[in-house]
Amino acid sequence: MAVPDAELQLERADLALMRDVRELAERLPAVDVVISNAAVIAELDDITEEGVQRTLATNHLAPHLLMRLLAGERAARFVVVGADPGALARVPVDVDDLRSVRGLGKVPGMRPFALYGRTKNMNAMFVYALARRLDGTTVTVNGAHPGIIKGTGLGRDARGALKAFGAAMQANPLLKGPDAGADTPAWLATSNNVDGVTGRFFVDREQVDTAPHTTDAERCDRLWDESARLVGLDP
Ligand SMILES: NC(=O)c1ccc[n+]([C@@H]2O[C@H](COP(=O)([O-])OP(=O)(O)OC[C@H]3O[C@@H](n4cnc5c(N)ncnc54)[C@H](OP(=O)(O)O)[C@@H]3O)[C@@H](O)[C@H]2O)c1
Repeated sequence: MAVPDAELQLERADLALMRDVRELAERLPAVDVVISNAAVIAELDDITEEGVQRTLATNHLAPHLLMRLLAGERAARFVVVGADPGALARVPVDVDDLRSVRGLGKVPGMRPFALYGRTKNMNAMFVYALARRLDGTTVTVNGAHPGIIKGTGLGRDARGALKAFGAAMQANPLLKGPDAGADTPAWLATSNNVDGVTGRFFVDREQVDTAPHTTDAERCDRLWDESARLVGLDP
């Protein structure tokens, strides 16, 4: 362990519930670093008690709300863990339909994965939109793809076609484990090499471009406004 005397304080929250996210933000002290990592691939009809799809709430609305509540005067680095920009180029966010009832593909069993992909594109769009709004402050925000990582819990709810797809992917002997997946997010949170860098997306510690449908400022702003409405914040 790098810091054996570190004092750890654990806080539990259900990040699918915006009530819990708000309460978590109130409990936390001023932060130096926030890494948004939680994500799920839930069924489309898995709706939280707050009336939002669990995938949309956990993967996108939670970081939108938490990071906006935690951004303050103190210098800080925010990192949003997204996914593979190459694969995500094929699943643009429908900014008129965040709940994504349309256009999720012909195979019903794969639609939860398509919705997950859209929320992972939302992660990049949120990074760009938040960085613009934090421009001139000492808070930076960047996105990262951890790589295709084996042995995590991401596919635990998968059924049918999606389960078979996940098993096929995980069978690749070249896949790395969670330590490799944590590398780029942790580097963005701590390295002097990215002092002051903001509004960028990284894979393997390299800055990469994400699809044009994620960088379009008008689309990012429409996502921002609708997300703000869903979490009950002023746009
Ligand atoms: N694995 C990959 O190949 C891959 C590829 C691209 C991107 N990613 C991204 O990497 C990140 C980590 O994924 P992973 O593969 O490591 O999957 P994982 O093992 O399932 O990790 C996801 C984490 O999210 C937490 N979580 C889920 N719902 C939550 C909620 N409502 N409240 C609080 N925590 C919640 C889970 O906590 P519990 O364990 O307590 O449920 C779990 O620790 C995700 O953002 C994912 O999109 C992964």
